[in-house]
Amino acid sequence: MATSPTQAVSLPEALERPSLSPAQLFEITRAREEALSRLLMAFVTTGLIFMVFPGTFLGVWNLLQISGRESVASISPAWRQAHGHAQVFGWVGSFILGIGFYSIPKMRGGVTSSFAAAWACWATWTTGAALRWVANVYLWEWRILLPVSAFLELAAFLIFFRGVSQHRSEGSDKQKLDPWIWVVISASMGLLLVLLTNLAGCFYVALRGATPAFPHLFDQRYLALMAWGFLVPFVWGFSAKWMTVFLGLRPLRSKWLLAAVAVNLTGLGLTVAGVGSVGLWLFVVGAGTAIAALGMFEPSENEAKIRGVHSTFPFFVRMAYAWLLVAAVLGVAANRWDTSGGIWGASRHALTVGFVSVMILSVGQRILPAFAGMRMLWSTKLMFVGLTFVTLGCTLRVSCEVVAYQGYAAWAWSVLPISALCELAGLTVYAINILGTFILERSHAQERACDPWDSSGTFSKGIGRFGRMY
Ligand code: HEM
Repeated sequence: MATSPTQAVSLPEALERPSLSPAQLFEITRAREEALSRLLMAFVTTGLIFMVFPGTFLGVWNLLQISGRESVASISPAWRQAHGHAQVFGWVGSFILGIGFYSIPKMRGGVTSSFAAAWACWATWTTGAALRWVANVYLWEWRILLPVSAFLELAAFLIFFRGVSQHRSEGSDKQKLDPWIWVVISASMGLLLVLLTNLAGCFYVALRGATPAFPHLFDQRYLALMAWGFLVPFVWGFSAKWMTVFLGLRPLRSKWLLAAVAVNLTGLGLTVAGVGSVGLWLFVVGAGTAIAALGMFEPSENEAKIRGVHSTFPFFVRMAYAWLLVAAVLGVAANRWDTSGGIWGASRHALTVGFVSVMILSVGQRILPAFAGMRMLWSTKLMFVGLTFVTLGCTLRVSCEVVAYQGYAAWAWSVLPISALCELAGLTVYAINILGTFILERSHAQERACDPWDSSGTFSKGIGRFGRMY
């Protein structure tokens, strides 16, 4: 069977072939963009499924149990950890891998083997995260499933890392990497360390534990590594890349950002080594320095880019950074006054919900529609509603968790279920808006197919759409 000149040809190969017409080149570019968007949508959809069901529903269930019995000790540590793992690995991790693959130039070259590796990464990561949840919640064959799931997650990351490092060596001749790339590299190293620690923990528990839950002290340090070694630097790195433009901020103070990363890593080292009394203070200093480096609370120099998203987008991004400071300060307070796990829990959720989730809800709705075939966001109103619910839920949760768990006031127990339902509503609305964008909004390719004037192979529509958004 004869193959068309546009089939099975990567973009670099195509550029080497003078025999290809502009229309054929365009066709190759279009096919590659569609393949990339499909891959991204698979990672994002999987992440959303993890976020809503194994992640948030289980979190809400746990909180309802805790509030009903007025004791955090009343829930199974394995269920608590199943929730945390589904959120951080199943949701946030899937998003990071998907966006990472989308942005790798090697992938943009359309080499078939790199697409195969990316799909293998998706399957391995998803299976690993799902097995962990099943093992922790149903206790089915957990002594086997736990190490297997940790192996699969590590393997998926190594596939991803191979793609990223090839990107570096095959990249342009640019000698110096931008500062934001260094920050993302440090976050990737943090993720690798988290996955290795997770593997070690899973082996330990499988061989010695009575349940699939990590022992308390190990879990506390593992969570510090996950939060401050992986999640926080990732958000800083992507903020340094996008926020200056999106929010119209003053140019990045690169040296300050690198200093913030160094201070944060020192704090992490001390905290993991058991010197939290100093390490936790360094998280506050690191967060403050990163905020100053980004100029997050300084007046914007240019107009914010809010086309295609809700006009409150810059407000929510800034608020996420305020939550980062709250999380760091609560960490210091927890080290000094926590007697119940409540101040630690409040600090953790100020970080995971207030900082990380609000950032993902804000920036995700800004960039994902464009990455997924130059779509428009389905509803800017839903974006606002989702962010408002998450913020309200997080405010009630963080304040009342301290008051209730510490035994300062009994009324706060009755507010916690409301906070959980607000967070659940906000995150579900977000998932609906992204899925609505993927399913109901037409991609650039679909628009072209419906527009005979655009079938000549021009980018007119796409440029028009980007013009509206950027
Ligand atoms: C509807 C929203 C959420 C609810 C109701 C919820 C609820 C809970 C509850 C009840 C716990 C047990 C410890 C405590 O009382 O603080 C917990 C722990 C945790 N949550 Fe959430 N959560 C939510 C969202 C999230 C999100 C979005 C993330 C991450 C992106 C996250 C990450 C974690 C982690 C890492 C733990 C610690 C697990 C461990 O002990 O190993 N949570 N959550």
